[in-house]
Amino acid sequence: MLGDVVNAVAPQTPIELKSPREIDLLRKAGHVAAEILMDLKRSVAAGMTTQDVDALAARMMRERGVKPAFLHYRGYPAVVCASVNEEVVHAIPGPRRLKDGDILSLDIGIFLNDYCGDTATTFAIGKASPEAERLMKAGRESLEASIQAAVLGNRLGDVSHEMQRVVEEAGYHVVREYGGHGIGRAMHEEPHVPCFGTSGTGIRLTEGMALALEVMANAGTARILHKPDQWTVETEDGSLSVHYEKMVAITDRGPEVLTPHEN
Ligand code: MF3
Ligand code: CO
Ligand code: CO
Repeated sequence: MLGDVVNAVAPQTPIELKSPREIDLLRKAGHVAAEILMDLKRSVAAGMTTQDVDALAARMMRERGVKPAFLHYRGYPAVVCASVNEEVVHAIPGPRRLKDGDILSLDIGIFLNDYCGDTATTFAIGKASPEAERLMKAGRESLEASIQAAVLGNRLGDVSHEMQRVVEEAGYHVVREYGGHGIGRAMHEEPHVPCFGTSGTGIRLTEGMALALEVMANAGTARILHKPDQWTVETEDGSLSVHYEKMVAITDRGPEVLTPHEN
């Protein structure tokens, strides 16, 4: 998140380290978020509108007794972000109808026992073009590489650098204006985690940090625009974009993915 301020160097407020009990609460929230995301991925099909996807997500959350985290967040009017093709992130669900070959970036957030679960993936409706497949593969591998870098002793710049490296080696571009974030009782906490960065720079990763790592990769230009709704982010050149997000805890046993799911 965070469109207005990008400050990877000095956090505005201290980073809240989580106790093992709090990590457990985030794990529980994260696991439910991951389950709902995968249920949605299985259920979404050509012919549905993104508004239909939103309604389905709202029902799944209700059935599991969890609260939507996005609804009313800074005035956001829906339960999920459903960004299609050239839409990058934060697309408000509406009448856009999904068709075979589209790619859908679906981002969901929930609260369970006051702790937030936030996770996203991009997948094809039916069969994707080889170009879309290649971009999705780069996005998945980028997020995976960044998770592997989320180890004690490394710095935040090492995590961000991995995201950027994998995306650029595949010939694509990371988005600069948005990124991942700390997560806990609030969806967005310090630190901001850009999808680009320099190894060996930034704050040192410490035990008890919980981060939502997010990769946004565009097939064409890195540059983005906002639609008139002020939420929906799209690529400036209309090229495809993907978004992958998982929550991780920094532990002495390595990174623990708190939202385990396939991409
Ligand atoms: N879940 C997004 C993120 O990954 C933020 C969505 S903000 C909303 O940080 F208002 F659009 F919900
Ligand atoms: Co998210
Ligand atoms: Co997030």
